[in-house]
Amino acid sequence: MRVKLVAGNWKMNGDLASNQTLLNAVLSAAASFSAMKCAVCAPFPYLSQVQQLLHGSGIAWGAQDVCQFENGAYTGGVSAPMLKDFGCHYVIVGHSERRAIFGESDEIVAVKFEAALKAGLTPILCVGETLTEREAGITEKIVARQLDAVTSRCGVKALGKAVIAYEPVWAIGTGKTATTEQAQAVHAFIRSRIAADDAAVASMVLIIYGGSVKAANSAQLFGMSDIDGGLIGGASLVADEFSAICRAAQPAA
Ligand code: PGA
Repeated sequence: MRVKLVAGNWKMNGDLASNQTLLNAVLSAAASFSAMKCAVCAPFPYLSQVQQLLHGSGIAWGAQDVCQFENGAYTGGVSAPMLKDFGCHYVIVGHSERRAIFGESDEIVAVKFEAALKAGLTPILCVGETLTEREAGITEKIVARQLDAVTSRCGVKALGKAVIAYEPVWAIGTGKTATTEQAQAVHAFIRSRIAADDAAVASMVLIIYGGSVKAANSAQLFGMSDIDGGLIGGASLVADEFSAICRAAQPAA
């Protein structure tokens, strides 16, 4: 039985005051979603604040990116051991904004994934197609390519120590959610592709959905057999919305 995960991706938002207000509100709602896994992925400068506020709470925290190198002359880089030092459990790798805006290739994403695992972090590997790719009917080909880049570098067993986030690029921040059937179909494809290499890893790996998830559509998405939770952007900045999404990830009573 896979315990669902809801991870907030704050992106480049927040400040000391608003983070505190948001986290205090989520913490006071947390008793209502204690039967699932909850996490927030904050911008680097706020990891220390998030660590202080969430320490011992049962809500995990993480970062949104990691440098592929471990240490040294990489100006501006933040390494996986540094994230570990601040108590991070998770790190998002290969988010479509990193791929599209910052030019991260499948190969770089795979090296980042490897660096995160080596430091004992749980990578949240994002995969997903653009609208043009979906319309061209190559969604599975794109998602397979993104997944295979990681498995060919790190081996399929490495996915067992990670979380996969299927995020159709056309659904991110657009208000357009994939239908539950569209999302489920890609999640099932990802799981079957992993199963072809390792059935045990496929049955245990969490495959979460991201792209305009809100309180209003979360229960339906999380009700699908291969959707194990969500990666939440905009709605993770609103305490009530985020808490309601976490509640929707609890097992049915
Ligand atoms: P969104 O973002 O929920 O604002 O669409 C999701 C993501 O990019 O992780």
